[in-house]
Amino acid sequence: MSASLLDQYTMPNYRRYEFYPERGEGSYLWDRDGKKYLDFAGGVAVCPLGHSHPEVVKAIQDQAAKLIHVSNWFQIPQQGELAKILVDDVLGIPGKCFFGNSGAEANEGLIKIARKYGIAKPAADGTPRHEILTFTGSFHGRTFATMTATAQEKIHGGFGPLLPGFKYLPFNDISALEAAISPNTVAILLEPVQGESGVHPATPEFLRAAAKLRDKHDLLLLFDEIQCGLGRTGDLGGWRSIVPGDEILPDAISWAKSIGSGYALGSFWARKRPVGDGMDLCDILGPGSHGSTYGGSPLACATALATVGVILRDNLAANAKALGSSISNAVSAWQVPALKGVRAFGCMIGLQLDTAVIEANEDFKTSGKAASIWVGQLLLDAGLLVIPAGLDVVRLLPPLNASGDEAREALSILERVLGKIGV
Ligand SMILES: Cc1ncc(COP(=O)(O)O)c(C=O)c1O
Repeated sequence: MSASLLDQYTMPNYRRYEFYPERGEGSYLWDRDGKKYLDFAGGVAVCPLGHSHPEVVKAIQDQAAKLIHVSNWFQIPQQGELAKILVDDVLGIPGKCFFGNSGAEANEGLIKIARKYGIAKPAADGTPRHEILTFTGSFHGRTFATMTATAQEKIHGGFGPLLPGFKYLPFNDISALEAAISPNTVAILLEPVQGESGVHPATPEFLRAAAKLRDKHDLLLLFDEIQCGLGRTGDLGGWRSIVPGDEILPDAISWAKSIGSGYALGSFWARKRPVGDGMDLCDILGPGSHGSTYGGSPLACATALATVGVILRDNLAANAKALGSSISNAVSAWQVPALKGVRAFGCMIGLQLDTAVIEANEDFKTSGKAASIWVGQLLLDAGLLVIPAGLDVVRLLPPLNASGDEAREALSILERVLGKIGV
């Protein structure tokens, strides 16, 4: 499809680069003119195995030839298989999963669970609790509830009135969190490593404080692991890259992106935690309370089973950790004026740009672009795909199975391109 058809017939909500990928294999993409690119954008953390991984392709082909879709009115055993792997092998914490189609939809599920919990465990005066605490720099999606949960005005812009029941707090501020909890508070929702705001982690102290406050006030601790989960940060549970092991017990987690290698699938998990009347949190969404026509179709589950299966079998979380460390060590040693620093959690890496240096650049001045988008263009021209985050960060989100040679190739392009700015 030509750009003009896109411009004419699709809504103008995306700011797209003039780049026409046509084919992908592993860590590489080829455009319509046959030019090869190293893809460290990964569909914004969607491609943990790179493009068209043979085992994922085979799983899709085999399942598509057998049965693509069947309604959730009927049995879909692949959902059970996938949920067992997520519960037992990815998390190792008893609970249950639901399958939908996207990240925002998975977070909607977390919000619905919190609302149900607030009814099951009301305030002392019997009023259902429904307030959810979220944090500056967060991104939880574009549906009404998840857009409202996102504590960023630029995401809310023009869509008010927003959904009631969310309170925004400064990220990593323990006193603000303590002070904000009211009799109406029911949950704390956070990304253990924020992605869209530029790879900003929760501090270990903040995660520990959130878990303690959850216990003290009988709240739910909800983790949005849509970007940081399933091995990307170097651990299968993203929060375990911040506080290792089982010290922090989340109550519910959302996933999407990596889970389906680009096939539309989202999921949320809730813990087996008693909520009264013999009921557990993971059973709180009873028959008829939630659903999705496409969610967890045989084809979606087969794709995810192949994807998550390879992540586990090949220990790709460990590979992601090693890759992230080697990239961040290399970048930290550079003397590049346009770069202020690097934040790396496995294959979730943020390069902090020095906007003062970039703003002095003559080409930048005439571009009319944010520094992150402008740098993204320079890197694209040089054959490396990255993803802008906010105004002054570019993210590297390589496949978890990227090789050392591919990391060195990315580093060489980055050093050459960034090194030319501001000198
Ligand atoms: C942390 C996080 N939550 C939620 C979402 C929304 O996911 P989706 O675009 O699949 O709805 C994203 C997407 O970037 C995300 O990074």
